[in-house]
Amino acid sequence: MNKIMGQTGVSGYSRGWASLEASEIRYRRLFESAQDGILILDADTGKITDVNPFLIKMLGYSKEELLGKELWEIGTFKDIRASQKSFLELQTKKYVRYEDLPLKTKDGHFINVEFVSNVYLVNHHRVIQCNIRDITDRRRAEKLVLRSLKEKESLLRELHHRVKNNLQIITSLLQLKLGNSKNIEVINVFKQTQERIRVIALVHEKLCEGKDFMSIDISCYVRDLINSLLLAYGVDRGKITMKTNVTKVLLKMDIAVPCGLIINELLSNSFKYAFPGERRGKIILSLRLINKGTLEIKVSDDGIGFPKGFDLYKTKTVGLALVVSTIENQLGGKVKLNRVGGTHFRITFKI
Ligand SMILES: Nc1ncnc2c1ncn2[C@@H]1O[C@H](COP(=O)(O)OP(=O)(O)OP(=O)(O)O)[C@@H](O)[C@H]1O
Ligand SMILES: [Mg+2]
Repeated sequence: MNKIMGQTGVSGYSRGWASLEASEIRYRRLFESAQDGILILDADTGKITDVNPFLIKMLGYSKEELLGKELWEIGTFKDIRASQKSFLELQTKKYVRYEDLPLKTKDGHFINVEFVSNVYLVNHHRVIQCNIRDITDRRRAEKLVLRSLKEKESLLRELHHRVKNNLQIITSLLQLKLGNSKNIEVINVFKQTQERIRVIALVHEKLCEGKDFMSIDISCYVRDLINSLLLAYGVDRGKITMKTNVTKVLLKMDIAVPCGLIINELLSNSFKYAFPGERRGKIILSLRLINKGTLEIKVSDDGIGFPKGFDLYKTKTVGLALVVSTIENQLGGKVKLNRVGGTHFRITFKI
């Protein structure tokens, strides 16, 4: 019985020993073949107790030059050690991560590394394991991406600037063509066309000023648009009160342009038709996001209202036909017209 137990004990011991040996081999293999630098430090003294081949190659020091040295004796880590505070951090924090650390190699050039350290116990002795990953290529790629992003931004800014300038040239050409025409109908057609072009040019101007050159803050845009319309129609602010309530919403160019055109048509109509003669009144413009990314635009006046028998869907004029087709066909939205006590448009569409 004893013999058997003894034998079992011996074979259990040797099995334990064998598995320990196997695990040591496994650990060594991982350590030796790792494609990250690994440094083992004595947590109490800060001395290097082991270093893997990858780190030796990365830093250019021989194993002998590294082993037994304190971390800060090696030029490479002078930055980490800048003060012993850093080592204290490694000792006390259990886990330390430097995202981008410049390490100096033996031949004096710098590499960017990600440095992660963990403290753990080995036979009641505290050990610091530092994993060091060369991120020079990643940093280089990031710099390239950043540079090409900057280039893209300046190209976009330049593009919007040129589009805006070209649109201004078109309005000037129309002005030249209009010359000294006395025909009021011709003058109106030209003026309306110039205004519509200006509405689009203003979007490009705002895109130049924006952060990403792709979207604009509609509240700033509408504010400028209203000011230019008030000026163009010589609106008497004593006669017509203008109230606006526009929330800050960022809109992409393909939404901002139709929005601008719609607001331009409806506001210019209110300025032109709602308050003939001495009639006084109020125009209210509101723009806001309502549930589920739906934009709501309301343009309302308490003027004379549409002529009797007017049908929004049968108008031969350009302005309102443009509003209806832009909203319903281009933006897939809805137009509601309330003609009680003036003209009240409510427009909704998904952005
Ligand atoms: N807010 C309003 N109050 C009173 N009448 C209006 C109002 N808006 C439009 N109308 C009437 O509806 C008509 C059609 O408007 P619409 O904007 O389609 O054309 P327009 O302004 O005459 O020309 P344009 O094509 O240059 O816009 C106007 O001529 C005007 O009689
Ligand atoms: Mg009109």
